[in-house]
Amino acid sequence: MERSEFGRLPGGEKVDAFTLRNARGVEARVIGFGGAIVSLRVPDRAGRMGDVVLGYDSLAGYLADDAYFGSLIGRYANRIRDGRFSLDGEEHALDVNNGANHLHGGRRGFHKALWTAEPDGAALRLTYTSADGEEGYPGTLHATVRYTLTDADELVIDYGATVDRATPVNLTQHTYFNLTGDPARDILGHELQLAAGHITPVDETLIPTGELRPVQGTAFDFQHPCPIGARIGGADEQLARAGGYDHNFVLRRDGDSLALAARVHDPSTGRTLEVHTTEPGIQFYSGNFLDGTTLGKDGHRYGHRCGFCLEPQHFPDSPNRPEFPPVILRPGQHYASRTVYRFGTD
Ligand code: GAL
Repeated sequence: MERSEFGRLPGGEKVDAFTLRNARGVEARVIGFGGAIVSLRVPDRAGRMGDVVLGYDSLAGYLADDAYFGSLIGRYANRIRDGRFSLDGEEHALDVNNGANHLHGGRRGFHKALWTAEPDGAALRLTYTSADGEEGYPGTLHATVRYTLTDADELVIDYGATVDRATPVNLTQHTYFNLTGDPARDILGHELQLAAGHITPVDETLIPTGELRPVQGTAFDFQHPCPIGARIGGADEQLARAGGYDHNFVLRRDGDSLALAARVHDPSTGRTLEVHTTEPGIQFYSGNFLDGTTLGKDGHRYGHRCGFCLEPQHFPDSPNRPEFPPVILRPGQHYASRTVYRFGTD
């Protein structure tokens, strides 16, 4: 594993970049700041390598970023209504950073933390201690994330956490993919398949209403492969509220073992991405907030929908939704979650 300095924080702390490489020349580069994946180079059907993720050339980009490019997300991924929840009879107020709501762990969530990063065999191991009260969350939390690149072109991400007091936990990865390798192109031609028969529809502020709505016969039906752009402009209240796809899909699954959640195919390059996860949901976000103002890698201005995210997770606002799969971690318990991003061509 190659290690080099990526930049320095305003306080002088060094941020390193680590390059994981497999036997087939696939390469993932990760930095300690936000645990962000800054590049991911995989072959197309002709064997040509291309970088399939959005990001920045320098640390300054990640410091200023408000789109979560490539970052780890915590302590709680996605939205919590009004930044409030009660737990064991006590009310907690979180950082409110998205309208009236809390999003992705707050302004100083795990994406803005300097993780301790160390090679661990062929894997990269990142650790971060989130202090009691950070962004309003109760209890000290120790998080560990391990990135492993296999010779089967899989990026395996293992998440772990322990706490000294009960707290909600929902960790994910916020990489934006563009399988063409050319972020000047949008992702609307990518074909998407999701192992989901329901979504958790949202209100005007993108908080789940509590309903589990069947996707059958709607623009959210990706049970068979369908281009992302085929129905994105249709008249649909949910699409209108989010400006496109920005929804939690309820994965069809049995227990909590690793299962296929999503498959994406870019017909132009043949590149494919499969997402396997132990999580019960996946947020599919079609890059609706990208508007050409963000200056990314290699001088690219990231345009509307030039990247998509598939964020395996527990459902949004679960701390306020006892009917959703539980998200509270208690002392003595061990949080464990695994996601595999598997690349291929066809
Ligand atoms: C997504 C979220 C979107 C938006 C985006 C960042 O995970 O679902 O609503 O906040 O992150 O711009």
